[in-house]
Amino acid sequence: MSPLLVTRTLPEDATDAALRADVLSGLTARPKWLPPKWFYDARGSELFEQITELPEYYPTRAEREILATRSGEIAAASGARTLVELGSGSSEKTRFLLDALAPSAYVPVDVSETALTQAGKALVEDRPDLEVHALIADFTAPLTLPATPGPRLLAFLGGTIGNLLPDERAKFLASVRSLLAPGDGLLLGTDLVKDEGVLVRAYDDAAGVTAAFNKNVLAVVDRELGADFDPGAFDHVALWNAEHEWIEMRLRSRVAQTVKVPALDLAVDFAAGEELRTEVSAKFRKEGVTGELASAGLELTHWWTDGQDRFALSLSVVR
Ligand SMILES: C[S@@+](CC[C@H](N)C(=O)[O-])C[C@H]1O[C@@H](n2cnc3c(N)ncnc32)[C@H](O)[C@@H]1O
Repeated sequence: MSPLLVTRTLPEDATDAALRADVLSGLTARPKWLPPKWFYDARGSELFEQITELPEYYPTRAEREILATRSGEIAAASGARTLVELGSGSSEKTRFLLDALAPSAYVPVDVSETALTQAGKALVEDRPDLEVHALIADFTAPLTLPATPGPRLLAFLGGTIGNLLPDERAKFLASVRSLLAPGDGLLLGTDLVKDEGVLVRAYDDAAGVTAAFNKNVLAVVDRELGADFDPGAFDHVALWNAEHEWIEMRLRSRVAQTVKVPALDLAVDFAAGEELRTEVSAKFRKEGVTGELASAGLELTHWWTDGQDRFALSLSVVR
């Protein structure tokens, strides 16, 4: 069995410094916001896995359906010998791609160390010939990939690209393009614009799992920065922003309150009903995806959707 290699590309304190910087700028802004990457400590990653199994949360099932039926075509079009996956989480759906590509190396990249090590351990056990080189890294920062055989297929699944704002997406796609050599490809999962009720329910499930996931960011700030957020003093909010065609998750303060963040020497006032934005999840149309890829110098060569046109996978192979 090949060993699981895990590389932390940022020093331990860089994560702490990034969290401090984000909390300081987000909680002193108007309206207040926090970036979604801070949901994903061990508990947040576990809650996300529970979300993927909820009856309301269709994106994972829709994307799995595409991967289950199209991975052979994806493998034939890409011919990759290394599969790199950004925001890989549990790598659960990735197994279809690994089966079809049979690559020599798999490079999962995630901020969640627990998700990466759990997924990586299971993969090296099941696939003794596969080199798994996990990177604990922030995919919005410049990445250095390990030297593994080309061509590479870089997969970004789950619709996670929708968590980036439009200018962040442009910067992200340009930096992805700079990682790709001729013959390499990008496989991108995008959730599609659809009925508002279906979308809102996917982010506001009856069992309250997404609400717990949303509030987990407060627990992370409490634990890491000594803050005194009371998650029970906030309500989970999911709404459709028709202008931007994205879902917004917010936390709404139930009462007027002041939250202290001792590590930043900060006191943050919330008015009753004031909201803190914790995530956007943009939904896409084919023209938009094609255009955003083209702006980054990538040509969309394949477009696959599930049987109900809820979710799309697109492939761009660099010539
Ligand atoms: C929406 S989940 C998708 C997980 C998996 N790809 C799927 O399709 O089920 C987003 C994943 O990206 C990771 N993530 C979020 N922001 C990140 C960042 N800035 N850098 C690296 N990983 C990030 C999270 O830890 C999580 O595993």
